[in-house]
Amino acid sequence: MSIRPAALKREASAAAAGATVRSVIAGCGSYLPERIMTNHDLAKMVDTSDEWIVERTGIRHRHIAAEGENTSHLAVKASERALAAAGMKADVVDLIVLATATPDETFPATATRVQERLGIVRGAAFDVQAVCSGFIYALAVADNFLRLGQADTALVIGAETFSRILDWKDRSTCVLFGDGAGAVVLKAGQGRGLPTDRGVLTTKLHSDGRQHDLLYATGGVSSTRTAGVVRMDGPKVFKHAVERLAEVVEESLAGAGLTSADVDWVVPHQANRRIIDGVGKKLGLPAERVVVTVDHHANTSAASVPLALTEAVGDGRIQRDEVVVMEAMGGGFTWGAAVVRM
Ligand code: COA
Repeated sequence: MSIRPAALKREASAAAAGATVRSVIAGCGSYLPERIMTNHDLAKMVDTSDEWIVERTGIRHRHIAAEGENTSHLAVKASERALAAAGMKADVVDLIVLATATPDETFPATATRVQERLGIVRGAAFDVQAVCSGFIYALAVADNFLRLGQADTALVIGAETFSRILDWKDRSTCVLFGDGAGAVVLKAGQGRGLPTDRGVLTTKLHSDGRQHDLLYATGGVSSTRTAGVVRMDGPKVFKHAVERLAEVVEESLAGAGLTSADVDWVVPHQANRRIIDGVGKKLGLPAERVVVTVDHHANTSAASVPLALTEAVGDGRIQRDEVVVMEAMGGGFTWGAAVVRM
């Protein structure tokens, strides 16, 4: 990919001024499929109940994509809303990083479908795959492109149709997930240094392939020529999640020169209310500062963090200049966190 003149110019003037180039969130948007599936609907399909699901997970309902409504369709709608919130036209975008574990096709990348439908004819578009941590990974990748001057304006998207890889006979997994998409527009801007500048302050990513068997899909192009279905050892995932997420939030705050006392909002991956509460408690963060959408979105994998972020920005909770920590963990295992001054 060639470095564009505008990016080079910006990088040079930033260097001359001794300023840091930061990736600022200029707007965010989300989209949920129309169809809502309640716990009562699920109780008609598998041996479960609304009481069990609410008590163990906090989930009350989730959205499910319609037949023919693919990950790219959800991603396009979320992206259009993010661009509108940023007051930008699609043609300013020169990078699309789309996180998904449920792409439309094996290839090409779903990001290129989104690029085409948004009418973007320049720059680069590609997918990243880190399952539920995907949005944090995508944000980190786009942030690095922008800070290095390789792009000016990025669409960072988390989009999933996880309903397509659920075993609808397995009550231990099918009640946990939903479909949706969220996107942010990331714009390269120049700051003056920590801690007052807006933008992505730090991102921290981790993975540990030894934990594969605790959370995976049973298929894949190269192994079975099918997509497979989700399998999970829920209690073991739960234990790892609380520990790894608390660690990575602390690591990311330290990387930004901040402590939990500086955090205005936590936007966690929405897998389970008890995990969200457990991490918050471990870090000593007040519950009213943690954004929770798991009750009405369930776990939308890579879409969960940008969906929650968009909701809290949209209803006025998250304000400009506030410090937001986003965190997520997923199959692999993968996990990560990002600290952003909005
Ligand atoms: N409805 C009713 N009963 C269910 C059920 C359901 N949907 N799913 C499982 N059960 C049963 C189990 O069969 C088990 O029955 P048994 O005691 O007779 O064997 C019992 O409930 C307890 O199961 P267990 O798995 O120990 O429950 P739990 O309290 O750990 O809750 C999860 C299960 C999946 C909700 C929980 O472990 C969890 O949230 N884990 C993390 C999952 C996650 O977030 N993954 C994504 C990370 S990206």
